[in-house]
Amino acid sequence: MPPSTPRPLLRRLRLLAVASLVGIAWWPRAGAVGVNWGAASSSSHPLPPPKVVELLRSNNVSRVRLSDADPDVLLSLAGSGIAVTVGIPNLMLRTLNSSRKAAESWVHDNVTRYFPAGGPRVRIEYIAVGDDPFLLSHLDQFYPFVLGAATQIQAALTKANLGSKVKVVVPCSFDAFQSASNLPSEGHFRPDVNKTMIQLLTFLSEHRSPFFVSILPFLSFHQSKNISLDFALFKGTARPHNDSHRIYKNSFDLSYDTLVTALYNAGFPQMEIVVAQIGWPTDGAANATSVIAEDFMKGLVDHIHSKTGTPLRPRNPPLEVYILSLLDEDQQSTSAGNFERHWGVFTFDGQAKYNVDLGQGSRKLWNAQNVEYLPSRWCVVNNNENLSNATASFLDACSVADCTAVAPGGSCYNIGWPRNVSYAFNSYYQQHDQRLDSCYFGGLGLITTVDPSTDTCRFAVGLRTSHSSILVSPQLLLMSSLFTTILMVFIFFT
Ligand SMILES: *[C@@H]1O[C@H](CO)[C@@H](O)[C@H](O)[C@H]1NC(C)=O
Ligand SMILES: *[C@@H]1O[C@H](CO)[C@@H](O)[C@H](O)[C@H]1NC(C)=O
Ligand SMILES: *[C@@H]1O[C@H](CO)[C@@H](O)[C@H](O)[C@H]1NC(C)=O
Ligand SMILES: *[C@@H]1O[C@H](CO)[C@@H](O)[C@H](O)[C@H]1NC(C)=O
Ligand SMILES: *[C@@H]1O[C@H](CO)[C@@H](O)[C@H](O)[C@H]1NC(C)=O
Ligand SMILES: *[C@@H]1O[C@H](CO)[C@@H](O)[C@H](O)[C@H]1NC(C)=O
Ligand SMILES: *[C@@H]1O[C@H](CO)[C@@H](O)[C@H](O)[C@H]1NC(C)=O
Ligand SMILES: *[C@@H]1O[C@H](CO)[C@@H](O)[C@H](O)[C@H]1NC(C)=O
Ligand SMILES: *[C@@H]1O[C@H](CO)[C@@H](O)[C@H](O)[C@H]1NC(C)=O
Ligand SMILES: *[C@@H]1O[C@H](CO)[C@@H](O)[C@H](O)[C@H]1NC(C)=O
Repeated sequence: MPPSTPRPLLRRLRLLAVASLVGIAWWPRAGAVGVNWGAASSSSHPLPPPKVVELLRSNNVSRVRLSDADPDVLLSLAGSGIAVTVGIPNLMLRTLNSSRKAAESWVHDNVTRYFPAGGPRVRIEYIAVGDDPFLLSHLDQFYPFVLGAATQIQAALTKANLGSKVKVVVPCSFDAFQSASNLPSEGHFRPDVNKTMIQLLTFLSEHRSPFFVSILPFLSFHQSKNISLDFALFKGTARPHNDSHRIYKNSFDLSYDTLVTALYNAGFPQMEIVVAQIGWPTDGAANATSVIAEDFMKGLVDHIHSKTGTPLRPRNPPLEVYILSLLDEDQQSTSAGNFERHWGVFTFDGQAKYNVDLGQGSRKLWNAQNVEYLPSRWCVVNNNENLSNATASFLDACSVADCTAVAPGGSCYNIGWPRNVSYAFNSYYQQHDQRLDSCYFGGLGLITTVDPSTDTCRFAVGLRTSHSSILVSPQLLLMSSLFTTILMVFIFFT
């Protein structure tokens, strides 16, 4: 049975002393809330980085975790004072494991240049090596390289004199630890990764780096691991889970303490924990709505701010918690479910879906300001056409565009036919920067200036990006409908 593991006073003092020496405030920061900001490649039309940084600052967000080290993003963060975690994608791990030189150039390009003499321009605090390399679905594609890669990056940091300023961590997925009974007291690491995990923990503990982990009560609930909705949402009315005299009142504590036990069993009872991903999606699955997400976030943030900790670590909350995610990402893989594209606290264009305290306190969240959209045009089905083949066009559009909202469980699932076809056409059209030929669909598409959105289903207008600056003039539009008519007449008579 693992005992509770409050940090002894001496260790706290030592940590404080170390912290003040190296200028990193470890202890006072416990329970800090930050956000995950995904890679530009996860969105077809990402909000420009300066706009995102403005959004972060207007909401007093103090920490952000990036999934890569995009220079545009890092330069936008320069001087903001926001603490940053940069990430190394899984695909680079193999190279980094076997090449010191590759690790040195990664650190040189993506870290050192932001630490000029005279003080950092970007407050990089962590380098996250790999992106959930232990995820079960990755099999052994990535994790065997992660310790080697982390070691090489650490050596490169030390060589660059940044070893005391930046910490190397490895984000660990929710499925790397488990408990057959779903109770924390039987928590352990997955047997296939156990050995690597112990080596990794040894490395982290040598460098006083924390353990980064994803905890996703939404997934526990979604995969119905005996978790009720109220239990996932921190509701006082939820039926508690009783783990031999330890009473669990919410799903977060249950997962967290499962990890605490796994760490204890692996021989690292004192390991600090950072929750690198936690969130609730708002679309693409049952119970993924803004109303429920707001409930979850309120429960989570209140719990973190209360600093009560968990039954196994009372009064010792995670060092930091990073909300998944800042913005919706329409190119995110949907292999785990359609909800993967809808984790955002904000929509893809930076509009708050609900309220949560990201650092701004009880104020309502600010939205992104002066967002540049494409013109107010949508692509819908032309009801005057023979729509017997519309489903084929729907499938074509959805093979590229984001149709997660019209799929079962989505917010637009009930808009009916042929509106659901219109949704797909529009999604494709916006994704292609409203190019004329992207609203053709064999003559079934029609461009309109009347917003087809309903109360619950938003037909979005895309963001203007640098590659969408060639805008279509009204004359061109006229020509195109003429062209379509001529084409239809032609087809009709042949
Ligand atoms: C990682 O690199 C080391 C040193 O080059 C090598 O010995 C080891 O086999 C590599 N690990 C894997 C899993 O290939
Ligand atoms: C630095 O990071 C960027 C963005 O993640 C990546 O594309 C680039 O390859 C990295 N630089 C090196 C030298 O690895
Ligand atoms: C993991 O490894 C440790 C140390 O070798 C061992 O004590 C423990 O039983 C292992 N756990 C699992 C789940 O394999
Ligand atoms: C499910 O959770 C309840 C507590 O809400 C518990 O009493 C019950 O034993 C659990 N069942 C299983 C199969 O884990
Ligand atoms: C929890 O379970 C233990 C037995 O494992 C039992 O003695 C105790 O009364 C239970 N507590 C609650 C609140 O149900
Ligand atoms: C939410 O989850 C519950 C199960 O806890 C389920 O009964 C209900 O149908 C779900 N809500 C929706 C809208 O599907
Ligand atoms: C902004 O956040 C800092 C801590 O990160 C806090 O001390 C300050 O009170 C916050 N400001 C507002 C206006 O909420
Ligand atoms: C629509 O096209 C289908 C064949 O694609 C045809 O069978 C049907 O009669 C047409 N309907 C009308 C109203 O023209
Ligand atoms: C529907 O598709 C079939 C097969 O591709 C084609 O022969 C037919 O002409 C199409 N009908 C319409 C109305 O476009
Ligand atoms: C569109 O909606 C209709 C009516 O709700 C439904 O029968 C049809 O399966 C949907 N089509 C697609 C491609 O989802």
